Amino acid sequence: MTNPQFATVAVLGAGTMGAGIAQVCAQAGSRVVLQDITEEFTKKGLSRIQDFLQKGVEKGKVTEARRNEVLALVSTTVDRAAASRAADLVIEAVPEKLELKNGLFRELAGVVRPDCVLASNTSSLSLAKVFAGVSKPERCIGMHFFNPVPLMALLELVRTDSTSAATIDAVTAYSKQLGKEPIVVKDSPGFASSRLGVCLGLEAIRMVEAGVASAEDIDKAMVLGYGHPMGPLKLTDVVGLDVRLAIADYLTKELDHPGFKAPELMRRMVAEGKLGKKSGQGFYRW
Ligand code: CAA
Repeated sequence: MTNPQFATVAVLGAGTMGAGIAQVCAQAGSRVVLQDITEEFTKKGLSRIQDFLQKGVEKGKVTEARRNEVLALVSTTVDRAAASRAADLVIEAVPEKLELKNGLFRELAGVVRPDCVLASNTSSLSLAKVFAGVSKPERCIGMHFFNPVPLMALLELVRTDSTSAATIDAVTAYSKQLGKEPIVVKDSPGFASSRLGVCLGLEAIRMVEAGVASAEDIDKAMVLGYGHPMGPLKLTDVVGLDVRLAIADYLTKELDHPGFKAPELMRRMVAEGKLGKKSGQGFYRW
């Protein structure tokens, strides 16, 4: 491993995204502290990393030595301040609630080192609002990862009006060490990826609602006709209907565009607990 741009990284939130982020940072040679609010959550996050690396060993993609080397760089804690105090980079991956994210960064601004870079993994919220009131806003940036984090090549970097060129340069260099291809996007609703991806997913749901074709056939149209690795309805199941509904409502409010209006079918499925892969039922049975 070469010297990582950020030697010590704190990842706050040990869910699917947080665990994946912690894994790729450790793979780049950073010491990583993965934090969540309960030990149950941190243990689950760590097992996700262990399972992914173990599958890699079984597939012949990862050696046992490499698995052990990566795991040795990851520790867990429930203490957010302790995780962040020594960090060169803090990446937040907590639930998509503006108040939660903003409160977290306001709290951390007084704890972290002045040169610590503060990053949010939000997929669509305004970074200006996520970082509102945080001191030294030039060190604040969006680092939007994609699921499954260890396999997806893109890293969407989101700059606010205050993000410094030095912060963008450092995070761009680190993105490459993570094995990702960075793009730099202006802080705007849904950035580049969620704005386009969610729009496609919502239109596909409207087409199911209108009886244009089955979910399977609409997905096939995009997979076989457009070369997408996964159709928009299956992807909505993987991301979670509730997650995409929240983004759709947010983008409708921010962009005033009918393409983002959530279809009734989507609201009904969420109300019935059909959230996609995580609940066992969405447009597909999992
Ligand atoms: N360790 C190491 N390598 C692994 C691995 C593991 N545990 N698991 C898989 N791999 C490797 C495989 O060996 C394979 O490598 P090769 O290409 O060299 O053969 C590669 O990774 C792909 O794996 P698979 O062949 O098992 O899987 P696949 O071809 O079906 O691809 C996928 C899986 C990459 C997830 C693909 O289905 C895909 O791209 N799906 C779309 C995902 C997507 O759109 N994600 C974005 C969601 S939106 C989001 O995340 C944003 C948000 O804010 C919510």
